[in-house]
Amino acid sequence: MNQENMQVMVASAYGTADVLQLQTLKTPSPKANEILIRNYVTNVTAADIMMRTGLPKIGRLYLGLTKPKQPVLGFDFAGEIVAIGEAVTTFRIGDKVFGGTTKLGCYAEYVCVNQEDVITTIPENCSYEQAAPIASSANTVLNFLKGLAQIKANDRILINGASGGLGTYAVQYAKFVGAEVTGVCSSVNVALVQSLGADYVIDYTQEDFTKNRQHYDIIFDTVGKRSFSECKQSLSPTGTYLSSVIGLPLVLRSLVQAIFGKQKVKFSATGALPVKKRLAYLLEIREIMATGHLKSVIDRSYSLENLAQAHQYVEGGHKKGNVVVSC
Ligand SMILES: NC(=O)c1ccc[n+]([C@@H]2O[C@H](COP(=O)([O-])OP(=O)(O)OC[C@H]3O[C@@H](n4cnc5c(N)ncnc54)[C@H](OP(=O)(O)O)[C@@H]3O)[C@@H](O)[C@H]2O)c1
Repeated sequence: MNQENMQVMVASAYGTADVLQLQTLKTPSPKANEILIRNYVTNVTAADIMMRTGLPKIGRLYLGLTKPKQPVLGFDFAGEIVAIGEAVTTFRIGDKVFGGTTKLGCYAEYVCVNQEDVITTIPENCSYEQAAPIASSANTVLNFLKGLAQIKANDRILINGASGGLGTYAVQYAKFVGAEVTGVCSSVNVALVQSLGADYVIDYTQEDFTKNRQHYDIIFDTVGKRSFSECKQSLSPTGTYLSSVIGLPLVLRSLVQAIFGKQKVKFSATGALPVKKRLAYLLEIREIMATGHLKSVIDRSYSLENLAQAHQYVEGGHKKGNVVVSC
C-alpha cells in the first residue's frame, strides 16, 4: 500500500551538493500506462553530478536553461510495484523491478515509470542494491563493448579505469564473452580488479600502459584519461579505441579515423539511444546476472537524507564500482 506523501530530494537550482534538499511531496498516481514503484535503492554516478551542476553548460539545453526542469534528479531505480495503471499488462503489483528512466525522479521513495520504459524484473538471486546501478552503468558497458566494438572471444581488451562504475562491469562482461582482459587502476584497486576476473592488471601509478609495447584489439577508456593519440601505438592495426567521455577532440578524431584510418575511434551517449535498444541491453544483462556471471561492486551506501554526501564522494572521482542510496 502506497502512502499519500513521500520523501524526495529536490535540486531547485544548479550548484554544489548542498542544493539537494529533502522535501515532502504528494506521492504520484500512475497514469494508464504507468507503474508506481516503491523505490528502495537508487544510484549516484558522474552523470548525476553533471545534472546537479548543469555542467558542461551545453547539457542545460536539455536539462533546463537556468535551473533543472525536473528538480527531482535520479536516473536509476530498484523497488517493488505498488500500483499499476489500467492499461498495464506486462507487470503486476508485487513485482520486484529495476531500470532507469530519462524522465529522472528517482531520488524519491516512489517513482512512476511507463511500462514500456527501460524496466524489467529483478532476478531472484539479486538484491535491490545489486540491481540499482545496472541501467546506467552496465547498460553503458554493453552499448560500448557489444554495440560499438562488437567484442568477441579471444579479443585482447584493455580497460582503463577498471575499478570504476563502468570499469568493474566492463571487466566482468569482457571476461564473460571470453576476451583476454587487462585492467588499469591504481595500487589500492589492483586486488579488486583481479577479483573481477581480469587476466592482467596494470597499476597506473607504477606503469604506463601506452609505453609497454603490448597491443590490444580494443582499448576502452572508461574515465576519459587517455586520448586516442596516446593509445594509438598500443592498438592493433585494425583496433578500436572507445571513450565514454565525449568532447570535441574525440568527435573530430572519430571522423578523421572513420575516413582515413584502419584503427577506429568510437563513442556514444547511451542515454540518447532508443528505449528499445536500452531495454534489450538491460534484458541481456539481467540474464547474465541471473546466471551469476556479473555482479555490482558496491563501494558505499547512503540514505536519501545523506544524498549530498554521496554526491560529494562520487565527485571525488575515485569511487570503486558503485555508490547506492537507500530511499
Ligand atoms: N557516454 C556514455 O554513455 C556514458 C555513460 C555513463 C558514464 N559516462 C561517463 O563515463 C565516465 C566514467 O563513469 P564511471 O561511473 O565509471 O566513473 P567513476 O566510477 O566515478 O570512476 C572512478 C574510477 O576512476 C578511476 N580513475 C581515476 N583516475 C584514473 C586514472 N588516471 N587512470 C585510471 N583510472 C582512474 C578511479 O580509480 P583509482 O581510484 O584507482 O584512481 C575510480 O575507481 C564519467 O565521465 C561518466 O560521465 C558516459
